[in-house]
Amino acid sequence: MRAIAQLGLCLLAFINSSGYAQDRSERSAAELMDVVMWNREPIGGHFRLTDHTGKIRSDKDFLGQIMLVYFGYTFCPDVCPTDLQQIGQAMTLLGESSNGVTPIFITLDPDRDTRELLSHYVPSFHPKIVGLTGKTNDIQALARAYKVYYAKVPVSGWARYTIDHSSYIYIMDRKGKYLGFFPPGTSAHRIASYLTPHLQGSR
Ligand code: NI
Repeated sequence: MRAIAQLGLCLLAFINSSGYAQDRSERSAAELMDVVMWNREPIGGHFRLTDHTGKIRSDKDFLGQIMLVYFGYTFCPDVCPTDLQQIGQAMTLLGESSNGVTPIFITLDPDRDTRELLSHYVPSFHPKIVGLTGKTNDIQALARAYKVYYAKVPVSGWARYTIDHSSYIYIMDRKGKYLGFFPPGTSAHRIASYLTPHLQGSR
């Protein structure tokens, strides 16, 4: 049984590493950075993915909330946990106004980031963060819509690969419209103070 399962994993890895488009964004890091920095193309898109509790969630579920959208993966050694920590702390700083904000963590590694794994990972940063996973194709389409750069990088050892990825925190308003982004390394204070006026207006 175990051997069969391992064979299955190997086959899966082979299929994934042979398909160029499955391993990385079609566009380069520099090109996508340019698009996001200078707001050259629309950002955002519809989705229908599984959250870390097993519920199917779509972007429409979050209308009326400010969404903080972040793409990453749970194996990420440094950048993702640091940014998620800042997002979590920003939620705490916002206090009651954080009721109007939903942070969303979308995995770029759906092969490894199962619903179960996300259910252990995401709540450790803040109880309101929603972890989303789904079919590789659906994740790819959404990453494309958000102009996310990512690329699988094979590594030796048990982890097999890491994923290089852009790590903007995208801000979507209550109507689902793109407002802007926080660059990587933005502090919790900066996030909270930017959001505060948006949360006070027109409730
Ligand atoms: Ni990361």
